[in-house]
Amino acid sequence: MTALTLSTAAAPGLRADAIVIGVAKGAKGPIVAPGAEAVDKAFDGRLAGVLETLGASGAEGEVTKLPAPAGFKTPLVLAVGLGSEPEEDAAYDAEALRRAAGAAARTLTGARKAAFALPVTDAADIGAIGEGVLLGAYSFDAYKQSARANNDAKAKNDKAPLAEAALLGGKPRDAAHKAALARATAVGEELNRARDLINMPPNDLDPEAFAALAQTAAKEHGIKIQVLDEKALVKGGYGGILGVGAGSASAPRLVKLSYTSSKAKKHLAFVGKGITYDSGGISLKPAGHNETMKCDMSGAAAVFAAVVAAARLGLEVNVTGWLALAENMPSGSATRPGDVLRMYSGKTVEVLNTDAEGRLVLADALWAASAEKPDAIVDVATLTGAMMLALGSRTFGIMANDDAFRSAVHEAAEEVGEPAWPMPLPEHLLKGMDSTVADIANMGERMGGGLVAGLFLREFVGEGITWAHLDIAGPAFNEGGPFGYTPKGGTGTAVRTLVRLAELTASGDLG
Ligand code: BES
Ligand code: MN
Ligand code: ZN
Repeated sequence: MTALTLSTAAAPGLRADAIVIGVAKGAKGPIVAPGAEAVDKAFDGRLAGVLETLGASGAEGEVTKLPAPAGFKTPLVLAVGLGSEPEEDAAYDAEALRRAAGAAARTLTGARKAAFALPVTDAADIGAIGEGVLLGAYSFDAYKQSARANNDAKAKNDKAPLAEAALLGGKPRDAAHKAALARATAVGEELNRARDLINMPPNDLDPEAFAALAQTAAKEHGIKIQVLDEKALVKGGYGGILGVGAGSASAPRLVKLSYTSSKAKKHLAFVGKGITYDSGGISLKPAGHNETMKCDMSGAAAVFAAVVAAARLGLEVNVTGWLALAENMPSGSATRPGDVLRMYSGKTVEVLNTDAEGRLVLADALWAASAEKPDAIVDVATLTGAMMLALGSRTFGIMANDDAFRSAVHEAAEEVGEPAWPMPLPEHLLKGMDSTVADIANMGERMGGGLVAGLFLREFVGEGITWAHLDIAGPAFNEGGPFGYTPKGGTGTAVRTLVRLAELTASGDLG
């Protein structure tokens, strides 16, 4: 992964493959953002004009390459768009910096070292640029023959992510700057770990393999881990997780990760949907709807990454992560539409559609999480296509049993640059899940399907426990082209919101 450093080096003497500068959209054309003064000076103050000649406007995501001016030890200048110039005296938005750094890092694939001379006003900007670089440089090539076994070192290097990023304007001896960089490194690396898990093909990442990877990471970071295998699940009565996993040759798992701090005053529980592949089961998905369903464990990947990040950051809060892992497959042993499952909570559920499996595994994990009486539970799940229809492919929905908590989660998401939106849990939709044979059915009205799923989950949250549900079906997996710091494939959405929630809980600024 890309190494991040803080540097006070002056631009002309700096040795690197490229120097990255910011260009913003001004009222009368592109303007050069602060941080690039030395470069502009070497162009005799005409850099904005040069960029305009090259067609640059400063629009977000735009990348313009130009040769470095004479006297520079860096051959290439990479001007990256920051979007509209901020209002007078205002600083550049952290998310604009994060995206610009990401777009630049993505363009610099194959380069060894780049200097980032983007506008920095405080430590938070350093963190945003650092995160953007790490996330933008990400690539998943573990399964590409050319990138692995190929002896052609040059071809291999061409595809390697940017090896080192020196952030100019950062102060290597400033405690806040150092802390921001350390945070960006931990969050960026763990988020990329979540992306790797999401991108991993489902023939290599079944519930058992996922649990084994969690075990390795937990050991490395001093996190307590408990893995319930199928025998333990049967013994414990986890009918939801077992019912979903019943059709698969790979048995389900429930993983509990416990990060504890001796200074903790609060306890957060994160619960992730971890369907390593969602075929739909007997209610089989048609072709066209199953090609990306390896991403159905994105919630569990986000929870996993967030717990490890919390441990790496030494946050003063206890965080328990629950990974509800199963593969949803059709077979002679699969759960049928019409079956009734006895859930871990004791409630019975009539399975009317085996493709509504996420809520079944989450129900058991939510009830297990509730038993510890945490101060709050947040679940993360690629739960419904309906949420995707409602909010599109870049925004996740937030539902909760507490309006203030839903707002707090939304605020945390906005703060870290993850698009999210509050959604209601209309009581009248509960009725649609009435079952003639069981306590509840796993399906209700088609309209508002995302909210119906949320209401189902609420039935399995312990009495009096504050809870929020993030339906990340839209943004979990990017089927379009890369943008900003978001690659194609697994995005790692919700990791940063969860980490932020843990930080806010640790500092007593949440709830
Ligand atoms: N994993 C899917 C939801 C999904 C769809 C995630 C598209 C990402 C992209 C989930 O298990 C599912 O199949 N949900 C059904 C529920 C329905 C049967 C009530 C859906 O949304 O169609
Ligand atoms: Mn499904
Ligand atoms: Zn699913």
